[in-house]
Amino acid sequence: MKPKFQAVTGMHDILPDDFKYYEKIYQIAGEIAEFYNFNRIETPILEYSDLFVKSTGAATDIVQKQMYSLKTRGGDSLTLRPEGTPSIARAYLEHGMANWPQPVRLWYYGPCFRHEKPQAGRYRQFWQLGFEVIGHSGAIIDAQIIQICGNILKELKIKDTIIELNSIGDLMCRPHYRKLLASYLRSRESALCADCKRRIKENPLRILDCKEEKCQVVKSQAPQIMDHLCQECKTHFKEVLEYLEEVNLPYRLNPYLVRGLDYYTRTVFEICQEDKDGQAQASLAGGGRYDGLIKILGGKETPATGAALGIDRIVTAAKQADIKVGETKKVKVFLAQLGNLGKKKSLKLFEDMRRAGVSAAESFDRDSLKSQLKIADKYGAKYTLLLGQKEALEGTVILRNMESGKQESLKLDTAVAEIKKRIRK
Ligand code: HAM
Repeated sequence: MKPKFQAVTGMHDILPDDFKYYEKIYQIAGEIAEFYNFNRIETPILEYSDLFVKSTGAATDIVQKQMYSLKTRGGDSLTLRPEGTPSIARAYLEHGMANWPQPVRLWYYGPCFRHEKPQAGRYRQFWQLGFEVIGHSGAIIDAQIIQICGNILKELKIKDTIIELNSIGDLMCRPHYRKLLASYLRSRESALCADCKRRIKENPLRILDCKEEKCQVVKSQAPQIMDHLCQECKTHFKEVLEYLEEVNLPYRLNPYLVRGLDYYTRTVFEICQEDKDGQAQASLAGGGRYDGLIKILGGKETPATGAALGIDRIVTAAKQADIKVGETKKVKVFLAQLGNLGKKKSLKLFEDMRRAGVSAAESFDRDSLKSQLKIADKYGAKYTLLLGQKEALEGTVILRNMESGKQESLKLDTAVAEIKKRIRK
């Protein structure tokens, strides 16, 4: 029988065995962020809904179908963040980061919320790890962001990944391409799915990454943006590719990659795992340049680029590949107790070891010595302390070297200092 209360549809608990993966990714991200000079930022999970309407885009699936929004008692409309980039752009402006040395490099790690149809790898609450560089237009930064995402996956030993790449132009060249594409799509409207029919007017570029069978032929004959980029965008994209080649990062150009968020300009990319037939699976990371966003939110024209990795998907990939993380803690001393009085004295002795910085473990939930010694073995403890009824009465404790089996009696009140000496040896 199902328990009466369950997690909300599409949201999931992260149980201790899985949490080790989330922690490991956080640790790797922190080390990489430090090396590449990113500073950690934490923004509120709730933002004014307008922030996402303006930045993610009114015509995007996220804003039209997926936002968890609520009205406060005061009448404000707030939304649980569906992604991190708008919040970072808001924080950049709110805290006058334009006056900090540029570019500002920030990273974040936290939950996001999208009301999507739940399925494998698609959750309604999921975790993102993101990197944003605001205040620099150079192609080298786009390549570095891709490199950073690749490095995180590599450190985790996630295999068979492919970087898919495209440029979607800027405000100079994209409007012209958009018109051209819309006019082509109108001529083929009857062959499109219902969603894409609606998109012709609102967001024709999104049709290029529609996965519906029906739209594939129309897509394959559509004009490609690469043939309609302005000179600046072409040069910028060529440079991104050259940088990737310079650092030996294999990539695949994907003219249909447009990404589902409105703020992108020029470089867009995704990193996916490939299946046995070389088909890209759902993305593990995605990002791109967003040179127009800061201005849209009321700031000066400011170039920016960034990416986010989907932690839940990466954890699933790591588990599927049988990648192990979080070794059981190795301890130097295991404290075993016997009898009521032994147990009573043990609580204090264990606490004294913590205060003295001795790496120790216990199993107060067990009474049998045999089962406690088994646990000591599992921990790989170098020493075991035995505190029984007799020792408790005498004010002593037995120290047993687990390798040699040699035992000696220590005075209880100086035992911790003695143990520290032994460990140091
Ligand atoms: P995004 O592609 O929407 O980009 O999300 C980034 C990653 O989050 C995806 O590649 C995927 O791994 C993960 N993800 C997205 N939706 C879900 C979901 N429903 N369940 C599980 N994982 C999911 C962004 O969010 C941009 N803000 C990235 C960016 C940063 N662009 C520039 N800077």
